[in-house]
Amino acid sequence: MTILCKLNDGDIIWPPPIWLMRQAGRYLPEYNIIRDKAGSFLDLCYKPNYASEVTLQPINRFDLDAAIIFADILLITQNFGLDIRFEENVGPVLEKSLTENPALGVITEVEKSNLVNVAEAINLTRHKLSREKSLIGFCGAPWTVMTYMINGRSKVDLSQSVKWMEDNPSLANDIICMLVELSASYLILQIQSGADVVKIFDSWAGVLNESQFNNWVVEPTRQIISKVKDVYPKTPIIGFPKGAHKFYEKYAVQTGLNIIAVDSELDRDYVRNILQKKFIVQGNISPNILLKGGEVLKKDIELNINKFRDQPFILGLGHGILKETPPQHVLDLVQFVRSLS
Ligand code: CP3
Repeated sequence: MTILCKLNDGDIIWPPPIWLMRQAGRYLPEYNIIRDKAGSFLDLCYKPNYASEVTLQPINRFDLDAAIIFADILLITQNFGLDIRFEENVGPVLEKSLTENPALGVITEVEKSNLVNVAEAINLTRHKLSREKSLIGFCGAPWTVMTYMINGRSKVDLSQSVKWMEDNPSLANDIICMLVELSASYLILQIQSGADVVKIFDSWAGVLNESQFNNWVVEPTRQIISKVKDVYPKTPIIGFPKGAHKFYEKYAVQTGLNIIAVDSELDRDYVRNILQKKFIVQGNISPNILLKGGEVLKKDIELNINKFRDQPFILGLGHGILKETPPQHVLDLVQFVRSLS
């Protein structure tokens, strides 16, 4: 069994397992080489040999406990016929936004879409990864994916997304339902292909009021999790409602997840006293502190570990590694955590 599945089954694991959001990426020179070879970011995601190679790079370099398949939450928008590209220094750009392109002709069978390439990359990676290491599959949560579909730009204007959702309730609901179906099938396909844990990223969950949060975050996520659990009841599911500080507990309780990923701004006493009583917690070193490194990083790791060590937890970041981060800082983090007794 892999380390995260053991943790989920109640085993005591010390030192805590470590993996980091965006652990494969531009801060690694070996990533940039493969990205150039692949041609574009999308080619990298869709060429299973390359995707698998960059997935394994941080494991080979730092001996992390889990790999996360190299892909992106926005690939799924191609199933809606929305063409996407990733521009240097800009980020994702969708050719058309949803306002101009109501969802017609959606490819609902993930097996018949580009997403099969991700499944193949998972399969290749599983065969190369040692048995005790976890392989994490993932998808974006409907709300966060929709913010990009509505805006068509990387600099998401979230107030505009919220307004669009409120102004187009019926279409918004139809698209959320489609995203729920697609995301559930996509996660199931990833598990079938060798992922032993899956994560649902809701990076923009923090801007919603309570009723919006219930309708666009909690309920769709609950449905995705329930569909995945119908097929794979034992696969641990990580949820990440980034920034939704008032609603973290409600989200964790009502969605049916197993592991709650916490961002760096969430108060650690709340995490420990409320969330860790019921769930496995993952987090929450700040990517800015990882960037600084040195004593500041060590201090924060100590604070983190002292707070969370009595209950099962995964040491991770509150958000993705910044591309300016020296790889040595990641190595320092791993060595420091593993030196603690
Ligand atoms: O190592 C890993 O974590 C796995 C791969 C992964 C990527 N994106 C690769 C990527 C994962 C899990 C994601 C998730 C993702 N993608 C999220 C949710 C997590 C979060 O960051 O909040 C979101 C919102 C996206 C959408 C997205 N993709 C944006 C906004 C950007 C541009 C920002 C940036 O960092 O450049 C991307 C591009 C992207 N996805 C890169 C990587 C490594 C950089 C692209 C490159 O190599 O040029």
